[in-house]
Amino acid sequence: MPHFIDIADFSKDALLRMLAEAKRRKQDRAGQPKGAVDADAPLAGRTLAMVFEKPSTRTRLSFDMAMRQLGGSTIVLNSGDMQLGRGESIEDTAKVLGRMVDSVMARVHGHEKIKALAEFAGIPIINGLTDLSHPCQIMADLQTLEEHKGRLEGLTVAWVGDCANVTRSWIEAATILGMTMKIGAPEGYQPEEDVLAWAAEKGGAIIVTEDPAEAVKEADCVMTDTWISMHHREEEKAKRMADLMPYQVTPALMAQAKEDAIFMHCLPAHRGEEVAAEVIDGPQSVVFDEAENRLHAQKAVLLHCFGL
Ligand code: CP
Ligand code: NVA
Repeated sequence: MPHFIDIADFSKDALLRMLAEAKRRKQDRAGQPKGAVDADAPLAGRTLAMVFEKPSTRTRLSFDMAMRQLGGSTIVLNSGDMQLGRGESIEDTAKVLGRMVDSVMARVHGHEKIKALAEFAGIPIINGLTDLSHPCQIMADLQTLEEHKGRLEGLTVAWVGDCANVTRSWIEAATILGMTMKIGAPEGYQPEEDVLAWAAEKGGAIIVTEDPAEAVKEADCVMTDTWISMHHREEEKAKRMADLMPYQVTPALMAQAKEDAIFMHCLPAHRGEEVAAEVIDGPQSVVFDEAENRLHAQKAVLLHCFGL
């Protein structure tokens, strides 16, 4: 069953194939109304259910528009409105979904819930973010990076600040696609050992330092993410803010990357926390290209899952 659960599940060729499809479809429909269906309507008659245990703007929008553009349709299921929210098991929920829709994109807390959906639904499952990983975001990031830098292999990307789900999926992508990834984060906020060990075993060039300036040196792209992810507790907020403030992406930090470095952020962003307004709203920022590419990249993910 062709699921889309983690970047690490894919070969370099498979990732590049999806990125090429995303690029081709983006180019082919340039200038058309956003709701127009792609000429081949490859997902006509197919329905995607979108399950949300956490809030979302981009993931919800991009999958909904992606299905429309591919000729299919969607059903949004917020977990609070489902029996899942009252304790129905994920296994039973998965089996019911599998009887009624053609595929499921789910944004859930625990990664094991995505795995359970994949095990029990009998239809392709897409990870729309878990506490552990966010592979769909990385497909859009890769598409954006390639658009702005003309290539992926051999690039150096820097990650500064808290390391969470997006960072993990990025480490997997950098390793598989032959990019150097330099991570600047304080102790306690660095990537988990298991993903670093996985990358090392695959020959990945993943460098972890506590020095943000060292991390961005020679970088073609500087990235960060919120310091308070959806899975973090409100009580942690003050300590996280204090610990991470030296890691804010400021104009001074950007000046230490390559002169033509771009800035990416998965959004939502918090100006004055993980990134200065001058950076995210400045000329090096490509965050809205990145947000738009969620749509194009998700179309390629969907086509992969439908075996097309
Ligand atoms: N980047 C991202 O996944 O955004 P949403 O939380 O709005 O879906
Ligand atoms: N790390 C963030 C990503 C949001 C798209 C979170 O999990 O909240």
